[in-house]
Amino acid sequence: MASTYFKRYRMEVDLRGRDFSEVEVSPGYRLAAWAPELLELHAQTKFLSFHDEMDAHVFPCLGDRMGCLRLMREIAAKAGFLPEATWLAIFDDPETSQPENCGTIQGLDTRNGYGSIQNVGVVPRHRGRGLGRSLLRRALEGFQRAGLCCVSLEVTAENHAAIRLYRQEGFVVVKTVFKAAEVAYL
Ligand SMILES: CC(C)(COP(=O)(O)OP(=O)(O)OC[C@H]1O[C@@H](n2cnc3c(N)ncnc32)[C@H](O)[C@@H]1OP(=O)(O)O)[C@@H](O)C(=O)NCCC(=O)NCCS
Repeated sequence: MASTYFKRYRMEVDLRGRDFSEVEVSPGYRLAAWAPELLELHAQTKFLSFHDEMDAHVFPCLGDRMGCLRLMREIAAKAGFLPEATWLAIFDDPETSQPENCGTIQGLDTRNGYGSIQNVGVVPRHRGRGLGRSLLRRALEGFQRAGLCCVSLEVTAENHAAIRLYRQEGFVVVKTVFKAAEVAYL
């Protein structure tokens, strides 16, 4: 194992004056509001969305099913956990008639007027269909409903897809931080 540092950006968006009343979701998909019985599905979806991604090196728990379950339990148990900003994306597969979980986002109220997005992730085969944007917007609407005016998140600097999405939704970089992590030798 070797120690390394990952460059990350703190990004923020000001929600004042924004209107998220019309959040579109692609046909065949729906967003389910938080309910405690969905905790394990959020954890599974988090694992499927992140385990092959760069962030699984930055945060090893994201590369592990049990790690994602522990993380999800921690998030849901926090004092500032915000159900309004926590959503699960579901695909109603017409061929199997089985619902498939395909995206997740969670939000916290950090108690200083700011909301914080924990992890937004979409399972690879469902990417590029607008789900990441729908999850993000639905969460931002939830933060707004909870009375928060600003929302922050952290993103790995090389995660160009996520950064592009965040910029399009009005987030701006306010700070660069470095996260230490242990990575396996390649
Ligand atoms: C980032 C992520 C959530 C985007 O989800 P998605 O459902 O594919 O995104 P959408 O289809 O809603 O696309 C919305 C925007 O994201 C950006 N985007 C998505 N995929 C992209 C790609 N491969 N390359 C560049 N930009 C991309 C674009 O700005 C896109 O808007 P546009 O198509 O109008 O230009 C998804 O790629 C993912 O889960 N990645 C792995 C987990 C992760 O890194 N999460 C972010 C942690 S901070």
